Amino acid sequence: MELRVNGRLYKIEVDPDTHLLWVLREHLRLTGTKFGCLKAICGSCTVLVEGEPVRSCSVQVGEVFGREITTVEGIPKDHPVKRAWKEVGVPQCGYCQSGQIVQAYALLSKNPRPTREEIVRAMKGNLCRCGTYPRIIRAVMRASEMMG
Ligand code: FES
Ligand code: FES
Repeated sequence: MELRVNGRLYKIEVDPDTHLLWVLREHLRLTGTKFGCLKAICGSCTVLVEGEPVRSCSVQVGEVFGREITTVEGIPKDHPVKRAWKEVGVPQCGYCQSGQIVQAYALLSKNPRPTREEIVRAMKGNLCRCGTYPRIIRAVMRASEMMG
């Protein structure tokens, strides 16, 4: 079976029912994607499938064979989202941040000039126990500015 992640093709032998999250972390060692609730609630496991944010804890790998998957590692370091995250100093403990960054990247890919309300709406499913929400909003706005 072949899995396409961050522009690379991986050949893996795995039960198609396995959740994508575990395949990314355990088989491909892409450990930027975190696990929190494992119930599609917290958003810490967010990755993109064909540009759409999904909860990888709730997607079976068999559903995404042959489709383009992007994890936080696949977003370039110099992308405005990552630069803005650093500039604003968003993370506290950091645990939720990969999911936040992937979700913000998905938003800005579709809507490079989101309003504050659109940012809040797009990000509200990604929970942060440290309450970094104001900095997340600031960073998405900053990334939008950087995208010119
Ligand atoms: S671990 Fe997937 S949504 Fe919480
Ligand atoms: S930075 Fe700690 S959970 Fe979000």
